[in-house]
Amino acid sequence: DLADIGVTGLAVMGRNLARNLARHGYGVAVHNRSAGKTRALVEEFGHEGTFHPAEDLESFVASLKRPRRAIIMVKAGAGTDAVIERLAALMEPGDMIVDGGNAHFEDTRRREAALRERGIHFVGAGISGGEEGALNGPSIMPGGSRESYEALGPILEDIAAKVDGVPCATYVGPDGAGHFVKMVHNGIEYADMQLIAESYDLLRQASGLSPAELAGVFREWNAGELESYLIEITAEVLDQVDAGTGRPLVDVIVDRAEQKGTGRWTVQSALELGVPVTGIAEAVFARALSGHPEQRAAARSLAGPDEGPVAGRELVEDVRRALYASKIVAYAQGFDQMAAASREYGWDLDLGAMATIWRGGCIIRARFLDRIREAYDENRELPTLLTAPAFAGALAEAQDSWRKVVATAARIGVPTPGFSSALAYYDGLRRDRLPASLIQGLRDYFGAHTYQRVDKEGVFHTDWSGDRAEHQA
Ligand code: 6PG
Repeated sequence: DLADIGVTGLAVMGRNLARNLARHGYGVAVHNRSAGKTRALVEEFGHEGTFHPAEDLESFVASLKRPRRAIIMVKAGAGTDAVIERLAALMEPGDMIVDGGNAHFEDTRRREAALRERGIHFVGAGISGGEEGALNGPSIMPGGSRESYEALGPILEDIAAKVDGVPCATYVGPDGAGHFVKMVHNGIEYADMQLIAESYDLLRQASGLSPAELAGVFREWNAGELESYLIEITAEVLDQVDAGTGRPLVDVIVDRAEQKGTGRWTVQSALELGVPVTGIAEAVFARALSGHPEQRAAARSLAGPDEGPVAGRELVEDVRRALYASKIVAYAQGFDQMAAASREYGWDLDLGAMATIWRGGCIIRARFLDRIREAYDENRELPTLLTAPAFAGALAEAQDSWRKVVATAARIGVPTPGFSSALAYYDGLRRDRLPASLIQGLRDYFGAHTYQRVDKEGVFHTDWSGDRAEHQA
């Protein structure tokens, strides 16, 4: 009697994924480096399904049906290579190793290529939704060979979240595609959270609304086009009162945002690909700024504007619109990055399908993703999401408010890098002529880097230090 699938690494994500599989009727082999966690899982949750506990990796692999399917749920990093190697050594051609952690997509590409040589399928699967999602239905982004998806896909789609009956799991693409898409998901998660934080901060500073009142504002917003998991839990966090001090919990939490790296990776990759993901980058940098207490303490004495609170509740609707517009920009940029990576790595990503599997289960799940899916359904080759009719219309409606919000924030000295950079991106793309022409002129002046002309073909250089005549290069 062999197990259908196995999970090694039984920290909370691995344990919940194993339980999710068992609850769906699969026999699940379970293994952990320290056997205590394996025993605890079976003792506590053994009644939920069929578990095959294994004390060591040898018996773990031996307890799996062929072709073997083993999911690794360990903390991403150097440790992953060791676990993969030990598993692979016990496996046979045709078997599958799934890495369900937040691995860097380049690591996944390397591992997939190495295992492919040995006939073993390596599947880098992004899994989103935290502990709760792993247990009750995550969003799953698996990359790897098509062949491996035939054996794994039905199980993954079975345990994934469903929206309108459609599973939030699909084949993403070859080698590192799944982990890349998960990485961009996390980058967008950073941008979303930054925009929410700016909305909260600005309304609190400018309008004097309390955290409890702001919880009500976010609750209202969650009934409209902003409806999403992150807006929903923002209301929960803002409503929380600290039991010890009686103060809003948000005022007791240290204001230093941490990060484990996926947002930074997204920006690093975007720099390589040449895709301006300003929303994600500003979010990563805002976290970095918050993490420099010495500089912040020193800078507290710097001059600020005289203007104090400006508005009452009338700013609320403007901020809602600015948030929505900036969110559209952040997602458009993230989808651009996936399109660029797809071209660069030959993944043939279906962007509409990515929006579809993000509708449920994951941290950025939102009604909004249906609009993105529809936009790509209408036109697979959309140059930018901003010009899809639904979004172009929303931006047109929001832009006055958006400009007002950015101006107000600047006037009273509340930093809104997310709102401001999104607006700058929007205006930059819209421009008929950009000052990039001046930059080209300067480059040609100091370094003879040449330029092209609007009125004729060719590459040109002006003899800046001589007679200033133009020559064709
Ligand atoms: C998810 C989350 C998950 C994790 C983030 C947190 O999709 O379930 O994104 O992967 O909570 O990595 O990231 P930071 O610690 O970098 O904020």
